[in-house]
Amino acid sequence: MNKFSKLIKAIGLILQRPALLNLILKDEQVLQRAFEKEFPHLELQQTDVFEWPEATQLAISPYAFLSGSSMVTDFAFLQLVCRRYNVATYLEIGTWRGESAANVAPYVKEVFTLNLPDQTLLQMGMSQAYIASHRFFSKDLTNVTHLFGDSATFDWRPYEQKCDLIFIDGDHATEAVERDTQTALRLRKSEKSILVWHDAKSDGEYPRYEVLLGIYRALPKDLHQNVYLVKHALCAVYLPDGADAAHLQLNALPTRQFELGLSSTKL
Ligand SMILES: C[S@@+](CC[C@H](N)C(=O)[O-])C[C@H]1O[C@@H](n2cnc3c(N)ncnc32)[C@H](O)[C@@H]1O
Repeated sequence: MNKFSKLIKAIGLILQRPALLNLILKDEQVLQRAFEKEFPHLELQQTDVFEWPEATQLAISPYAFLSGSSMVTDFAFLQLVCRRYNVATYLEIGTWRGESAANVAPYVKEVFTLNLPDQTLLQMGMSQAYIASHRFFSKDLTNVTHLFGDSATFDWRPYEQKCDLIFIDGDHATEAVERDTQTALRLRKSEKSILVWHDAKSDGEYPRYEVLLGIYRALPKDLHQNVYLVKHALCAVYLPDGADAAHLQLNALPTRQFELGLSSTKL
């Protein structure tokens, strides 16, 4: 099929299903170009948190190995950052199975985790099975408080200026990440509070510009220099005191190898 025939076919399909337009608008190459146009002098930098002395002792639990799970290294990173910076109040947007909440709960005083209510998920056409998996790992934990609402309209006032770390892992569309990041700035207990974004990378190496655009648009320019992609994980982090970092280099040779031991419990 030549280019003209492809164009006609594509237009026909888009007219039938306008949602297909999102595949173009959300294409990572399109978003990367938009990012580079908007932030022409910004060089993505990456930090290796597994250099930290706390990283010699890591045990990840629970871990479901199910669809949409974070990487083991994401939960390791959340644990590390909570331990290293003595995080007391941790708040996250996006609970789902409660896996991230359950992973950090042993290392902090209190966890607040917000998700869309089950009723809203039902109205959005989500399956009963998906809805039932929400809060699976966090529901019985005594220091975890489940909050319900849309992060865009939730009344955040009781949590403003209270949180040591805010983990943004809800809706990953650029506009939603931008809005949740603006919220997170208000939730910070102090200028020393830490922000973490999940899915700022699409895998252990490659950046995800859909999320990065939201992050950098929301943050004041003077905070940009302290934003880091987390090497070996999908997260990005804002560390107010800075960190050792290097410019992101794709397809570099490995600089670290991990040894994993697995054990599991039937539920
Ligand atoms: C990727 S999952 C969270 C995973 C969880 N943090 C973990 O690592 O175990 C994203 C969750 O965010 C919720 N969500 C999406 N948009 C939201 C919004 N606007 N407000 C609150 N929750 C939202 C979804 O229902 C979903 O359960």
